[in-house]
Amino acid sequence: MKCVRKVTEDIFWVGASDRRLALFENIFPIPRGVSYNAYLLLDEKNVLFDTVDFAVSRQFIENLKGLLGEKTIDYLIVNHMEPDHGATLQEIASIYPDMKIVGNAKTVQMIKQFFDFDIDSRSVVIKEADTLSTGKHTLQFYMAPMVHWPEVMVTYDMESKILFSADAFGTFGALNGNIFNDEILFEQDWMDDARRYYMNIVGKYGAQVQALLKKAANLDIAIICPLHGPVWRSNVEYFINKYDQWSRYEPEENTVMIAYASMYGDTEQAVNILAAELAEEGVKNIRMYDISNTDVSELVSEAFRCSHLVLAAPTYNGGVYPVMETFLLDLKAHNFQNRTVALIENGSWAPAAYKNMKQILEEMKNIEMFEKPLSIKSALKESQMDELVDLKNRILVSLKGNNE
Ligand code: FEO
Repeated sequence: MKCVRKVTEDIFWVGASDRRLALFENIFPIPRGVSYNAYLLLDEKNVLFDTVDFAVSRQFIENLKGLLGEKTIDYLIVNHMEPDHGATLQEIASIYPDMKIVGNAKTVQMIKQFFDFDIDSRSVVIKEADTLSTGKHTLQFYMAPMVHWPEVMVTYDMESKILFSADAFGTFGALNGNIFNDEILFEQDWMDDARRYYMNIVGKYGAQVQALLKKAANLDIAIICPLHGPVWRSNVEYFINKYDQWSRYEPEENTVMIAYASMYGDTEQAVNILAAELAEEGVKNIRMYDISNTDVSELVSEAFRCSHLVLAAPTYNGGVYPVMETFLLDLKAHNFQNRTVALIENGSWAPAAYKNMKQILEEMKNIEMFEKPLSIKSALKESQMDELVDLKNRILVSLKGNNE
């Protein structure tokens, strides 16, 4: 039985959702599941836009057969070869032996790396701005390298003004019958997962996302069909603007994220006091995270969202507490930049957490660090309150500066 949705009169969503997978890419928790979107255009030539992950191949094939009946697929356009989209490529190629496979030179190379079937005899190798006519529709291809892999491209349908955007504009979260952004409460229910998806999957490649946005700016886009999450058929500028802001590494909110690690509650008490002091001064929406209990993908996403970070951690093995080191290295790997950071360290006999945190932060671009850390020996004492108040004041001045 097919389970599809109509995107336009002749273009169908033929993907499926996985609510069983715990970790996307075996690393990112997805408690709300994930969708693998694929799309089918029924024209004089029938075109499939990408395939899906193995996990949902059964439903996917039933969707294709249900829509096509005895007809064939003439072209498979491979916008992205990562196996969450490309895994079923060989199977589809064997069900539809006359199907041509459309991709760029890197796509073809990657298909050869993943599979052993004869791709050369059935590939159509395209390059930037090439077009493919399918009858009523004309498709145009734009390269989008490193959004998220080097072979990534996007396809624009001139007839329906649809951008098939590959991983760009995707989000974590299974689709629940409602596949369109105007059928759900995106801001309320999806935005956190959209941001976490962006920051962790493509956050590192801001420059490449900017390059894609520049190309997209020349297109009249009515609908965005990404490979994960909702299809955007209204208010597309809203999500395009979010991508623009994220890929320029601009914070979304002028506020403070406090990320702390605490072995026995003493470091935690210090940041609790700091948070209360900041709140007393009118700072709103302060976010606090015990980083030992929060997945690092959530921490990375939140760090990109906020303008200011307070990082607090104990000393451990002569360096910084391991979960803080992991968090900082992950930020660095995602090209984290343009933020203001205050540091708090704790150490009962030889504090070294500050030095270690500072070292990693210095390897990032445009991170403004307050000169002096708050250095606690075991527990914050009344005698150190003036230091904590001083730290609070420096954060307030910086927040105010951002508002001016
Ligand atoms: Fe959804 Fe980069 O694959």
